[in-house]
Amino acid sequence: MFKDFKLIAGRPVYIQIKDYMKHLIIKGGLQGNQKLPSTRELSTLLKVSRNSVISAYAELEDDGFAYAVQGQGSYVAPTPPGSETISSWTMDWKTRINDHARLAEDLDIMKRGIRAEKGTISFTSIAPDESLFDLDNVKRSFMDRMSVEGNVLLNYGYAKGYKPLIDYLKQYMEHKGVEMKGKDILITNGFTEGFDIVLSALSKKNGSVICENPTHHTAIKNLKLNGFEITGIPMERDGIDLVELEKALQEQAFDCAYFVPSYHNPTGIVMSPEKRQRLMKLMNRYQIPVIEDGFNEELRYSGSHVAPLIAAAGSGNSVIYLGSFSKVLFPGLRVGWVLADQELIYSLESVKRARTIHTSTLDQSILYQYLLGGHLEKYLKKARAEYKRKYELTLQCCKEFIPYTALSGDGGLHLFVTFAEGFNTRTLLAACHEQGVIFTAGDIFFTDGKGQNTIRIGFSRVTDEDIRKGIEIIGRSARQLMG
Ligand SMILES: Cc1ncc(COP(=O)(O)O)c(C=O)c1O
Repeated sequence: MFKDFKLIAGRPVYIQIKDYMKHLIIKGGLQGNQKLPSTRELSTLLKVSRNSVISAYAELEDDGFAYAVQGQGSYVAPTPPGSETISSWTMDWKTRINDHARLAEDLDIMKRGIRAEKGTISFTSIAPDESLFDLDNVKRSFMDRMSVEGNVLLNYGYAKGYKPLIDYLKQYMEHKGVEMKGKDILITNGFTEGFDIVLSALSKKNGSVICENPTHHTAIKNLKLNGFEITGIPMERDGIDLVELEKALQEQAFDCAYFVPSYHNPTGIVMSPEKRQRLMKLMNRYQIPVIEDGFNEELRYSGSHVAPLIAAAGSGNSVIYLGSFSKVLFPGLRVGWVLADQELIYSLESVKRARTIHTSTLDQSILYQYLLGGHLEKYLKKARAEYKRKYELTLQCCKEFIPYTALSGDGGLHLFVTFAEGFNTRTLLAACHEQGVIFTAGDIFFTDGKGQNTIRIGFSRVTDEDIRKGIEIIGRSARQLMG
């Protein structure tokens, strides 16, 4: 006994001794009323100071794991915490979870995806490249904000969000051309929570949502988990097919629409300004509220800024805009926002409070200080230049090596490849995986079970050398499979 004790750096020694002894007691290595080694003995056995053992024993007593007898030493408590268990009482949780949890598990592709073994060239991620993060400014933002109002930041905050950040984002959205009068902002844990909150708060008159096909997989998942039927409308090179959209609107009523007009995931398409106008007119005619996903707008590499749909809605209140800096800045800071009609935000604020009380004020305040200090603009210049270079390299490699029938992606962090009808990209994925290359098979983004001939190539975290090597392998394997 006591031979497997190993010290780890960064944790006080007496706490490590206490934890170790607790573990022995809980696991039965030390029995109730058994005498513990003297502090001198244990300090020799564990190669630690005697003072550390004395402190550990005192804490074990406080926690009810040991007791001391004057002049004799310390003993294991007769019934230490956790010793009186009803060990035979087990549950079959599989039969106790509900359909919601079962569906969430079914739709959880992270549990089923191919694991990237070390050395694999993986095009599956569209997360930002963390080597670009300007950590010094993030650290400084944290320290600056903490020194201004640290105590307040660590206490409960407001469900609606951290006021300075809300005010900053209001101006930020105004500069994107949004009429802010009558609108308000709710801070959420990224786009994903905002979307879930909005969907959970909307009434289901007919339980149907219309969106682009293909679309963001997480959105499909949340729509299904919120009980909505999904009607997907095919994409054209400049965004959703408006003719098909109108046909669907004529046939059926929808509770709302979900659109990703900029750097659409997975196609990477940016909807043209003209199409945005026509789309909004159509939605107005059929009175369908629009949920706009504006997650990637800042990653524009060329051309002029395209205003979001909510800007085209002017003073109207029919668009719910969901913003996020997850691709532009740091997805680890789970901060997104819902910008919408102020009465709607008033209701959503209560939904948010009931669910999670509020988004971490610490996360929000770091982001706020970072934005206030003008670091986003500087960082974007660097990130855009790097992503643009990678984007152009990926585009060029796809053109050179891949036998595609369509290739799309106007910016952002990924490209979307369509092969000939009948070609199966799951088979391609298996063949590439054997050669150490993986990507995302496109079928997961389709609302109608189609897209077996498509793939998404995320390039943000792949080195130049691997982009070239990986895409060459994908192209070669595809040609071999085509025969
Ligand atoms: C279409 C789309 N919207 C939003 C997001 C960002 O989600 P979140 O802010 O929850 O990280 C992503 C991330 O991949 C996305 O693809």
